[in-house]
Amino acid sequence: MATSPSSPGSETVRHPFLQGLSKHRGAPPTIIVIFGASGDLTARKLIPAVYNLAYDNLLPADFFLIGFGRKHIPDVEFRKLAASAVKEFSRRELKSEVWNRVAAHTSYCSGEYDDKAAFKKLKAQIDKLEQQVGREMQTLFYISTPPSVFKPILQNLGSSGLAGRHTGKGHQSKVVIEKPFGQDLATAQQLNATLAAVFSEPQVYRIDHYLGKETVQDLLVQRFANAIFEPLWNRNFIDSVQITVGEDLGVGSRAGYYEESGCLRDMIQNHTMQLLALTAMEPPVSLDAEGIRDEKVKVLRAIQPLTLGPAGDVARAQYAEGLTGGKPVPGYLEEKGINPQSATETYAAIRLSINNWRWQGVPFYLRSGKRLPRRVSEIAIQFKRPPGTLFAAEDGRFDLAANTLSFQIQPDEGLSLILNGKIPGLETRMQPVKMSFRYATTFGSNTPEAYERLVLDAMIGDSTLFIRGDETEASWKLYTPVLDFWRGQGRAGMDSYAAGSWGPLSADALLAKNSHVWRQP
Ligand code: BG6
Repeated sequence: MATSPSSPGSETVRHPFLQGLSKHRGAPPTIIVIFGASGDLTARKLIPAVYNLAYDNLLPADFFLIGFGRKHIPDVEFRKLAASAVKEFSRRELKSEVWNRVAAHTSYCSGEYDDKAAFKKLKAQIDKLEQQVGREMQTLFYISTPPSVFKPILQNLGSSGLAGRHTGKGHQSKVVIEKPFGQDLATAQQLNATLAAVFSEPQVYRIDHYLGKETVQDLLVQRFANAIFEPLWNRNFIDSVQITVGEDLGVGSRAGYYEESGCLRDMIQNHTMQLLALTAMEPPVSLDAEGIRDEKVKVLRAIQPLTLGPAGDVARAQYAEGLTGGKPVPGYLEEKGINPQSATETYAAIRLSINNWRWQGVPFYLRSGKRLPRRVSEIAIQFKRPPGTLFAAEDGRFDLAANTLSFQIQPDEGLSLILNGKIPGLETRMQPVKMSFRYATTFGSNTPEAYERLVLDAMIGDSTLFIRGDETEASWKLYTPVLDFWRGQGRAGMDSYAAGSWGPLSADALLAKNSHVWRQP
């Protein structure tokens, strides 16, 4: 799959991180098997990620892709579907020189996920590829199916011998497993047990695509590669932290999935908590996978159980009709495929306390929702106000803002710091000013997609940006009582917010207790 230096891919590798990757990282010969090959995620993210890795010459010379799914699809048809996925969803245009290299190594295998014979057929297909290239290759099983078939797939990978291929020469089989990783603590524990019966932990890659986002990785660099932040990164200087993961989209065509899931399971338990863990964890002893994941688990375990009920730590709501991008949109209960009596939340906000030396007394506020005014994810660190003795005037001349450091995860990726500055003039008047760094301005805008990074990392065997079993359980432990409580409540206590607004009043009330307000990112 690798090409000569004059290929389209090699000419355009300009991003500094990618240059680093291409020089220092080499994936071994690999066969990726995607379960759920005709699904949405495969088309939107996985096939484009493989294509862009090929474009950048980051795939090994011996690389094969097998799509596995229930539908019967001839190889040639699957390649056509994959090519249209690249055309529609890749960040780069489809170049035939690049795509032909991928297509020539792409095939399809159809079968039921609980059918042993189908896995035998898959194994024969893999063995044949190995014979063809005359060497053993690692197999990366990417499970991108609905969760109802995770278990049969894993069991069949075990019983067919696919999970334990070539174990005499290291872990030659790996499994990447998509979210949702369980529905609550008990189901996450069961899934971890099913995985552990078939694979050992170093073979397992639980994906949370937020960890593959460039700016999320930059959070670690900003915190630990700069000397100025860490001395201030604690309860002596920080007043509060707000994490927002907002979307302007509604439930779209995913009504069936979303009704079962809701915002807490879909966004808060995983993506938002990963942002919190990286923001709040202690400096790791090393940057390797275990160093970082040990610290994330520690901080997740230090979070205090949430108070439920009136005046508790949690708010939930559904969007009502409103405006998105200036256009009228229906409320959640009127969306196609949604139960008009649904008790599924499209918005959740949480107030957390981390009971450790660094963070005691600093509230962490998390929120996520569909149909907010715009798509925005950010982490905002609000510092304590300076003592007001020097610049205190009752006539409002000194409009002192709290210093706020915000990491803009997406879109318009970057970092900004709010400071107080003097307005030029003969009298002393002040105004908050913003110091900003923008990725696109400094590095150009061709940033790799999260899935490119994560697929490559899994091939290489680097699990730093994947979630360990105990991490996911620590997060479920916090939220399972909330889900149980909500189930008991039905629709009681479900707030609403107009589509296109920043969320319900009950979310504002969570902050009012400490005289805080939500930012308007
Ligand atoms: C997914 C959720 O994990 O993340 C979706 O299931 C959500 O509901 C998506 O839309 C958001 O991802 P991103 O990368 O667009 O912020």
